Amino acid sequence: MGRRAKAVVCRELNKPIVVETVEVESPRRDEVMVKIDACGVCHSDLSATNGTIPLPPPSVLGHEAAGTIAEVGEGVTDVAVGDRVMISWIAICGKCRFCVEGRPALCDMSARATITLPDGTSRLKDADGNSLHHFAGVSVMAEYATVHKDNVIKLEVDVEADKAALVGCAVMTGVGAVLNTARVEAGSSVLVIGSGGIGLNAIQGAALAGAEKIIAVDMEDKKLAFAQTFGATHTINPKTDGDPVAKVLELTGGGVDYAFECIGRASTIEQCYNAIRKGGTAVVVGVAPLTEQVTLGAFMMPFTEKVLTGSMYGSGRPRVDFPRLLALYKANRLKLDELVTATYSIDEAPRAFEDLQSGANARGVIVF
Ligand SMILES: NC(=O)c1ccc[n+]([C@@H]2O[C@H](COP(=O)([O-])OP(=O)(O)OC[C@H]3O[C@@H](n4cnc5c(N)ncnc54)[C@H](O)[C@@H]3O)[C@@H](O)[C@H]2O)c1
Ligand SMILES: [Zn+2]
Ligand SMILES: [Zn+2]
Repeated sequence: MGRRAKAVVCRELNKPIVVETVEVESPRRDEVMVKIDACGVCHSDLSATNGTIPLPPPSVLGHEAAGTIAEVGEGVTDVAVGDRVMISWIAICGKCRFCVEGRPALCDMSARATITLPDGTSRLKDADGNSLHHFAGVSVMAEYATVHKDNVIKLEVDVEADKAALVGCAVMTGVGAVLNTARVEAGSSVLVIGSGGIGLNAIQGAALAGAEKIIAVDMEDKKLAFAQTFGATHTINPKTDGDPVAKVLELTGGGVDYAFECIGRASTIEQCYNAIRKGGTAVVVGVAPLTEQVTLGAFMMPFTEKVLTGSMYGSGRPRVDFPRLLALYKANRLKLDELVTATYSIDEAPRAFEDLQSGANARGVIVF
């Protein structure tokens, strides 16, 4: 039947987002409609509005949410109306070599499902009947969202929606980069550049892994205070403390074992590579603009055996990792409550985006 829903729409690049009433089509085969209860505001949503992530508007934003199943399409058996779910934003074909190897974040289908559902079509229309894109293949910054059944993971523990929502991006991405992508060992030294929603989760992932030194870098002292709450043992603000690479080399006597870039800038990716020790690993989590290039000294590469890698969605396997992350939260070993430093109504979404840009929050969450 379809439903009308208030939604956060990117109409035009480099313009503020707008809240509009859109039409969300009922689920087709293998799809579900979710009544969204909470949706986090991630830097990737902002990056979709300014061309950093180059996707064409108009689109409904949002990829970090929790909600309740409102309708199920044909062929859906693993969730039913009324079930609580978290949203995962990766498309999973289940057949490509990456899916089969247990690396669904690299699924070959994901390139197609960035502005549509996995079948290449949209379930979203604006008030004039024009089709809207699905950002990140989901579009969950809206009262209702129709998504593929593989984009919902049943929420089987008692967790409030605003906290559960964050598992679907910030927590999976940040903690996963440390535990799944880099596989940080106990006793390691870790650098995290950028202490926003993603970086704070890399920091708490490093703490979970038993890292000895956890050095957080951010331009905002407020973020560095959050970083300490999440387990940072040392903090560096380049505005007052100078070159972070020199500081890290000094603190560690030659470089960290692991560095995580959680901003999305070429210069900080270079800092991560330059701050790791011989044989260390630098992990790029931040999504830099398409036009940026990284410059690294070539001569020393063979002599240092450093590893530079990316991390997509924390190398996540949502059906394995989401329940595991929630179990850690329930055991008081993973912080979710402290991540939510502000909540907004959907009508306040423009302010939530302004606050993300100005760095006011650990994570801001829209609650419905
Ligand atoms: N790889 C993935 O799968 C994945 C998933 C989600 C988000 N991301 C990306 O991760 C990045 C971070 O997202 P977020 O939601 O945490 O953003 P955020 O805005 O919450 O955090 C970014 C932080 O970086 C700090 N910062 C900015 N410039 C800096 C500099 N030069 N030096 C030190 N600190 C600086 C800011 O003060 C802020 O605290 C974005 O690029 C986002 O697109 C990647
Ligand atoms: Zn995100
Ligand atoms: Zn696949």
